[in-house]
Amino acid sequence: MSTTDAFPVLPGHVVALKDLSPTTVADALTEPSVNLALHSRPVPTWASAVDDLVADIVEPYQFWLVNEDIDVLGERLRAGAGQLPGGHEEAVDALFDDVIALASVVSEACGDTRPFVSLRTIDASYFTAGASSVSSHMHLDTATVTLSCTYVGAGTEWTPDSNVIREQFGTRKMQRPDEPLGALVHDPDLVHESVRYEVSLLKGEIREDEDEGSLDFLSNFLEASEIERYNVGGGLLHRGPGTARGTRLLLTVSTMRVPRFSRVPAGSL
Ligand SMILES: [Fe+2]
Repeated sequence: MSTTDAFPVLPGHVVALKDLSPTTVADALTEPSVNLALHSRPVPTWASAVDDLVADIVEPYQFWLVNEDIDVLGERLRAGAGQLPGGHEEAVDALFDDVIALASVVSEACGDTRPFVSLRTIDASYFTAGASSVSSHMHLDTATVTLSCTYVGAGTEWTPDSNVIREQFGTRKMQRPDEPLGALVHDPDLVHESVRYEVSLLKGEIREDEDEGSLDFLSNFLEASEIERYNVGGGLLHRGPGTARGTRLLLTVSTMRVPRFSRVPAGSL
């Protein structure tokens, strides 16, 4: 299947969003069997300015908002803008405005005022030989919902729920470094790629028996007593496109909390 055309809509698990209003997003993700919602949007007029910005970046750009109120996101982005090369004000303004708008979608749709926001470049220096990485190996997120948007470079890759051999993920969430994809899915060629500026909202899994590293990650956002089981056996299997596709600029906005739309019966929002 072509991976760069309009995204596929697979009834029951993958839905298309007509817009990105928090209500539309929440309504789409309320259904427990849905683990991916996609919103296609045209590449904006400022995209080439962002391409130029990223082309001029020498050291990897890394921005995180961790356990802070989303109201300070703009301020924090500005404070970290010194990492970016000068002379690209138009691109930086447009990019930050978009990041703030997309982060607020997650916050409002899921009811989390402190989502985890990550905006960063990913290049070859990001990868460690012989190790699994979310940017090149198939995995299930340790988050309840993650919004993702690739501004520059190749998009995130994913495979539909029906292709996943769930038994392989009973006690783990990630493909091993040298493990063939065919051991984890029925058809290793059935991998879709998100396109630039497309917005994906995907569900991960929070399990009762998260490993130490995942618990450590979750502790940045939640007290131990706040960690709740979510969507076990239903997370979207996905990965970054790996090392060979050039530098990416990737936004992810995640919540580790059970979204409020999952706490009420489907259809009653
Ligand atoms: Fe992921």
